[in-house]
Amino acid sequence: MNSEPDYHNADLKFSGTGIPSGKIIWRSPSNIALVKYWGKKPVQIPQNPSVSFTLRKSYSETEVSYSPATSGKPEMEFYFDGQRNRQFEAKTAKFFDSLSRIFPFVNQLKFVIRSKNTFPHSAGIASSASGMSVLALVLCDMERQFFGTLQKEDAFHRKASTIARLGSGSACRSVYGGLVIWGETDGVPGTSDYYGFPVNEGIHEIFAGYQDAILLVDAGEKKVSSRVGHGLMNSNPFAAARFSEARNNLAKLLQAMRAGDTETFIRITESEALTLHAMMMTSQPYFLLIKPNTLQIIERIFAFREKTGLPVSFTLDAGPNVHLLYPEAIRNEVKRFIDNDLLPFLSPKGYIEDEIGKGPEKIL
Ligand code: DP6
Repeated sequence: MNSEPDYHNADLKFSGTGIPSGKIIWRSPSNIALVKYWGKKPVQIPQNPSVSFTLRKSYSETEVSYSPATSGKPEMEFYFDGQRNRQFEAKTAKFFDSLSRIFPFVNQLKFVIRSKNTFPHSAGIASSASGMSVLALVLCDMERQFFGTLQKEDAFHRKASTIARLGSGSACRSVYGGLVIWGETDGVPGTSDYYGFPVNEGIHEIFAGYQDAILLVDAGEKKVSSRVGHGLMNSNPFAAARFSEARNNLAKLLQAMRAGDTETFIRITESEALTLHAMMMTSQPYFLLIKPNTLQIIERIFAFREKTGLPVSFTLDAGPNVHLLYPEAIRNEVKRFIDNDLLPFLSPKGYIEDEIGKGPEKIL
């Protein structure tokens, strides 16, 4: 069992007159889970391990300007898409405040944060993974620049992933590119409940350039947050079976991805997506995040696969949008399928052609 890294460090603060001003910019992507995290223990510890693809085109880009503060607490202004956003401001201030024993320097700074996402606003795409991972990367980058710590890439990424997890569980996987596990997993040394761990080595080439067409079904705000959904797993009568099934699925999925076995990949990812939503439907109070058009699309994916034999599959996150997963080699066929058969079920925002990506990037 891995122990939690202890990042408390009272030395990471500026001496009286040496408080700097400057600016840092990072991009960090969203990710799509294949085996789902749904259910957690304090503090942000998953009930079962999960694995995801980090995306390439769907990312947050966040500019953080900092200057000396006077109040002894992190001071903050938050702009989203150029508009002051008080909700994000309060959430980020609370997050920074909660990190003040890990990064004591946050109490000495005023932050002006300008963030935007490449994916459409309120398209129902979870933005906490990209949004929280980018903030974690910025804070670790500040620590590295100001205090000379975290020079080794491994140490830098591990800390960024741990901090991202504290902001939003799934965000810890976005700190790395490709296929990333979060949660201690039998037979995969290096995996941990506290941070993400990339597992790209030995994965069959068919999965290397995997595509994710994000089919936007409904642009509305989610009625039940992931936080509440996770909490309801504490009293879900099927929870124990679900957590153990997720472990089995993760082991089988990794094996299939090493062997290039798309059939098993399809069976497990689709079952994971449906099980996630089954957990919502069997919680008390129960709730539904899929929409009629989600099911229309799924039925058509089944029919298309049956007819063509092509290895397309779907997954869902905590919302109605469908992520259509397929190998790069069949991109044209899949694009034709979406344009001919699926467009009537999509919201006016259409779909995003994304793919597996290499992870976050420092811009400034
Ligand atoms: C369905 O990571 O958004 O996307 O830790 O409370 O912020 P918090 O939850 P969050 O939950 C994501 C749930 C999921 C599955 C997954 O990404 O593994």
